[in-house]
Amino acid sequence: MDTPRFLPAHPDRLDRVAGPWASLFGEHSRNAIAGWSNAAFGQWHTRRKLGRLVVHIPRHPDAVERVLLANAANYHKPRIVKKLIAPLVGRGLLSADGELWRTQRKIVAPSFAPGAVAGLIATMAHAARGAMSDWPERGTIDVAQTATDTTMRIIAEALFSADPRLVTPQATRHIAAALEAAGSVRLSAILGLPTLRLTRVARAGARGQRYLRETLTAIVRERGPEGGEDFLGGMIRDLNTRFSRSEATALAIDNAATFYLAGHETTANTLCWAAYLMAGAPQVQERAREEAKAALTGDPATLPQRLPYLKQVVDEALRLYPPAPRFDREAVADDMLAGEPVGAGDIVSIWPWLIHRHRHLWDDPDAFDPDRFAPGREADRHRFQYLPFGAGPRICVGARFAQTEALVILAHWIAARRFALVEGAPPDPVGLVTLRPRGGLKLTLSPAD
Ligand code: HEM
Repeated sequence: MDTPRFLPAHPDRLDRVAGPWASLFGEHSRNAIAGWSNAAFGQWHTRRKLGRLVVHIPRHPDAVERVLLANAANYHKPRIVKKLIAPLVGRGLLSADGELWRTQRKIVAPSFAPGAVAGLIATMAHAARGAMSDWPERGTIDVAQTATDTTMRIIAEALFSADPRLVTPQATRHIAAALEAAGSVRLSAILGLPTLRLTRVARAGARGQRYLRETLTAIVRERGPEGGEDFLGGMIRDLNTRFSRSEATALAIDNAATFYLAGHETTANTLCWAAYLMAGAPQVQERAREEAKAALTGDPATLPQRLPYLKQVVDEALRLYPPAPRFDREAVADDMLAGEPVGAGDIVSIWPWLIHRHRHLWDDPDAFDPDRFAPGREADRHRFQYLPFGAGPRICVGARFAQTEALVILAHWIAARRFALVEGAPPDPVGLVTLRPRGGLKLTLSPAD
């Protein structure tokens, strides 16, 4: 389809390369996707020395493949990042390595298999319709808020039998604060600097972490070793067959926090950015709407399979605004990454934000073009230049859940409403742990027909 070019918002780029310490101060410390130079989107590898620490940022897909797949055993989650996120997610799946990681992955994987996810489509559709019941027929809404409320409800229902303690506005506020604080202290922690616990952000973050951990601890303890008939219950039972009672309880709490956090904020961001992109490209939106309307008349259990064009839109939204804009590893032993030496103990940062907009990997990289993901176009790209869910053995365990959820919700929303940009109010993308629109994302609604 020949669609007018839509160039969605991104932070300004610098003409010069910023010094390594710029990442600690200034805009980059508040927004990890800001403060990059134009050159950063054309280079293959950067090596930065920060004090005694060496940080590599490889962009060549061969190097990324080596870190995440071919030599994945040599690249662990960084000790410093583990320490940083421990108060929130402990030793759960996201932060564990080695045998502890393998065991936990084995326990949760069946809950995210195709059949299990298809069984959640009705829950997802119900939440999508519920969100619309609060919308005006015509007018402006904050898509970020409605998306977060919707995905939070779905994760609470799908994994925790809709425990009411997990869907309150108070819970939403605490989670946002905990994530913001974790993101803002990340770099100082990597460098071993004090993490300024006295700032407002840090104090709110600590309160948020406490609230979340206390709530999930109460929920897990109330369940007892039998667990109950949902994801959390199955995980508690399985953990109790492999670990001591106290260890199983501790890991159940860590994973409850991991899945609650990892399982909704990222998908909420995907919904936001996809809605924004379609608002900026009305022809794309119209084509996706026609597809959605037709798809919604069929069997709900197979709805996502009838949305191939909307899937292209979501894939492109995940390219332009990867909800996890970076993730890190620490080298266990010396290695070579596409000709660049890496030392034991070095940090290797994988940056989907840079790789997804790299000018030697993509044509017109900053433009919105869902046709990049049209069937048959896979051969145009390297498998490791598109990484919204990571890759290799540690690829996001919830990827299918997230893609299904995004398709089901967006199909309901665009079939009922037309989304348009609000004049003079472009979104402000900000990346800390996740990539979200700062201050929300306002779009104007009108009836679809
Ligand atoms: C669009 C939505 C999502 C995005 C973009 C996303 C992205 C990612 C990425 C990039 C990783 C790999 C990080 C690394 O290698 O260091 C990851 C891992 C993970 N994600 Fe997601 N995620 C999404 C949704 C979900 C959902 C819905 C769940 C659960 C319900 C989830 C749970 C996890 C967990 C537990 C891990 C750790 C897996 C492991 O290390 O074995 N994510 N995610």
